[in-house]
Amino acid sequence: MPLGIVVGGFFGDEGKGKIAAYLALKDKPAAAVRCGAVNAGHTVVYNGRVWKLRVVPSFFVNPSTRLMVAPGALVRLDVLFREVEETGVRGRFLVDANTGVIEDRHVEEERRSAHLSGRIGSTLQGVGAAMADRVLRKLKLARDYPELRGMLGDVALEVNEALDRGELVYIEGTQGTFLSLYHGTYPYVTSRDTTASAFASEVGVGPRRVDEVIVVFKSYVTRVGGGPLPGEIPPKEAERRGWLERASVTGRLRRAAPFNFDLARRAVMLNSASQAAVTKLDILFPEARGVREWERLPREARAWVEEVESQLGIPVTLIGTGEGAFDVVDRRRDLGLEW
Ligand code: IMP
Ligand code: MG
Repeated sequence: MPLGIVVGGFFGDEGKGKIAAYLALKDKPAAAVRCGAVNAGHTVVYNGRVWKLRVVPSFFVNPSTRLMVAPGALVRLDVLFREVEETGVRGRFLVDANTGVIEDRHVEEERRSAHLSGRIGSTLQGVGAAMADRVLRKLKLARDYPELRGMLGDVALEVNEALDRGELVYIEGTQGTFLSLYHGTYPYVTSRDTTASAFASEVGVGPRRVDEVIVVFKSYVTRVGGGPLPGEIPPKEAERRGWLERASVTGRLRRAAPFNFDLARRAVMLNSASQAAVTKLDILFPEARGVREWERLPREARAWVEEVESQLGIPVTLIGTGEGAFDVVDRRRDLGLEW
């Protein structure tokens, strides 16, 4: 059984949380690892509840999945404990001993920075400041906090041993390809690489262990904060099209633009993506709402998805048609791509 990485194809907020929750419920992976940091909020709608997760993997919705936080990730202890209680996952939740811990002073440092708050439009969650301390080898890690005893472990070892036993494991990437510190629209980027290779590295698995890279796109593009957004439309027009969204961590309005084939192709290249997920198809094609079978999608919606496939050169295996974790058209069996 393989290892899959879920990665964002645009500027974050593509709906990775929703796709991860679907994969959890459908594939029932043995383990899932959250990467990134608390600046990234993943939204899961399941069983009549909405979760906005910044530490706990969105895969928590499957009760048999062991949940882990990568050594390359950064957490805040208050957010971690709150989410562990809200999701009720204590007992199957593991933080790597080397996971970084953000302190209040990191948040304060970012709030004082006109560069980050003004020009870059940072979420000001202290992530960049903590990353800087980590590079300078001053950051405290999870192993330095007695209150985390009992939750600590060796995530790289756990994941590699699970794969050796033939178990299915997913890595949950954060943000999006074009917010990558290396491959994004620098300086309007986040403080880490956000491509699939980086997430494998954050966990501690080598490239030869990765079987599937699922790049998640939304049916239109959004971004929060500064930086280029090709084809950007005014907020009034975004509202008319149903594209106006609020950021889940900061509450800021997201900027919006139509689906961008050039960016999507480049994201496929940068991530070596083997399949794509497209979320919010129901926003472009209202009759697609809640549909869970390919044949039941409106003809124009299917034609649009096929156009995406032909332009990207990889199959679109998962299609989001609503907020709920099960509002997905799953084409993997039809395409012969089941695990
Ligand atoms: P920072 O990483 O919080 O400093 O923010 C840097 C840039 O990345 C800003 O434009 C943020 O809006 C953006 N950003 C960071 N995390 C996310 C995310 O999870 N989703 C969307 N944008 C993000
Ligand atoms: Mg988000």
